[in-house]
Amino acid sequence: CRVCKIAVLSGDGIGPEISRVAVDLLKVAGDIEGVNFDFTDALIGGAAIDATGSPLPEETLQICRTSDAVLLAAIGGYKWDALPPEQRPEKGLLNLRAGLGTFANLRPAVVLSHLADASTLKREVVDGVDIMIVRELVGGIYFGQPRGFRTNEQGQKVGFNTMVYSEPEIERIAHVAFQLAQKRQKRLCSVEKSNVLEVSMLWKEVVTRIGGQYPDVELSHMYVDNAAMQIIRNPRFFDTIVTGNIFGDILSDTASMLTGSLGMLPSASTSDDGPGIFEPVHGSAPDIGGQDIANPLAMVLSAAMMCRYGLNMPQVAEHLEKAVTSALDQGYRTADLFSEGTQKVGCSEMGRVLLKCIHQESPAL
Ligand code: NAD
Ligand code: IPM
Ligand code: MN
Repeated sequence: CRVCKIAVLSGDGIGPEISRVAVDLLKVAGDIEGVNFDFTDALIGGAAIDATGSPLPEETLQICRTSDAVLLAAIGGYKWDALPPEQRPEKGLLNLRAGLGTFANLRPAVVLSHLADASTLKREVVDGVDIMIVRELVGGIYFGQPRGFRTNEQGQKVGFNTMVYSEPEIERIAHVAFQLAQKRQKRLCSVEKSNVLEVSMLWKEVVTRIGGQYPDVELSHMYVDNAAMQIIRNPRFFDTIVTGNIFGDILSDTASMLTGSLGMLPSASTSDDGPGIFEPVHGSAPDIGGQDIANPLAMVLSAAMMCRYGLNMPQVAEHLEKAVTSALDQGYRTADLFSEGTQKVGCSEMGRVLLKCIHQESPAL
């Protein structure tokens, strides 16, 4: 029996509700496959601020560093929105990503056929969409220096950030994206703003150069404003997308609506070595936190990505993925996806449905 050490960072808002569902499923799927998950809960975000004063306590970082993978739900909330930048919940997440060096954030947007009608877009536009967004996660405008507030000569307050990428930072994310594209439809679209920004001119130049090593992948380039429009107009154009930190943030929320709900999108953040972070694309949804109505499927699919990419246990991942499709097949929907003729369930109830689906697939247990 293999033992896998998992750091569970539930965070804020709907975080604890959705991570409970994922952990319960992992236990059962692990049992079936002879894998023993050893879960350690750790504080991050607003919950960590309230308990320790820091959004990423040293103890949490240490637990993550010594785990095989980090399963993270979501952080943030109104309560902490007025804090200065260094003390905000978001800083905990950013410091964790930087601390673990998880520079490659994979955000798949796949339209499951049962949900094609749940999208606000027409079925014929979204049917069959399968996009992989590769977002650079520990650089760009999120981390560039200088940043801050100052007062200008007119005595006015000024806020500023710096969008910066070095050649090695672009090279390593480009390699990840080209190698992923090779395993997919072999089409890679690099998204930037090189008609205006120097940082994007370098991005395009470096991605093009690295592309020389991957002649089997068809490389295209697109400005980010056009890309946002094309994702809505003709999403099937896209196979694999590679882009910087902030553009990837925005485009992944955009792409989520092809799938019917932001509550469907998982992600995997990986480094060259060390544990990855597996977390939904969505946030802590403070507007619905504590009501047991959140969609836990992005979280469950993130746990599946953890098993597949982080722990190399595709058999366990499959139990989770199959449970998700089977629950949707049977018509179960949380409020974000609910429509006439489907069965509305809450978050924990969806968890019970998923558990039943796993057991039905493996009746021996
Ligand atoms: P959000 O993603 O939390 O919510 C946006 C909208 O989508 C809300 O209406 C919410 O109810 C809905 N939604 C999100 N996830 C859902 C789910 N699983 N099921 C059903 N509905 C869902 O984004 P926001 O409201 O802009 O931000 C809220 C907080 O979350 C902020 O503090 C933000 O910084 C933080 N945030 C954290 C992460 C993260 O932890 N990775 C990601 C994004 C935002
Ligand atoms: C995400 C979130 C984070 C980001 C925030 C909460 C720091 O929006 O994971 O998409 O911008 O990266
Ligand atoms: Mn985001």
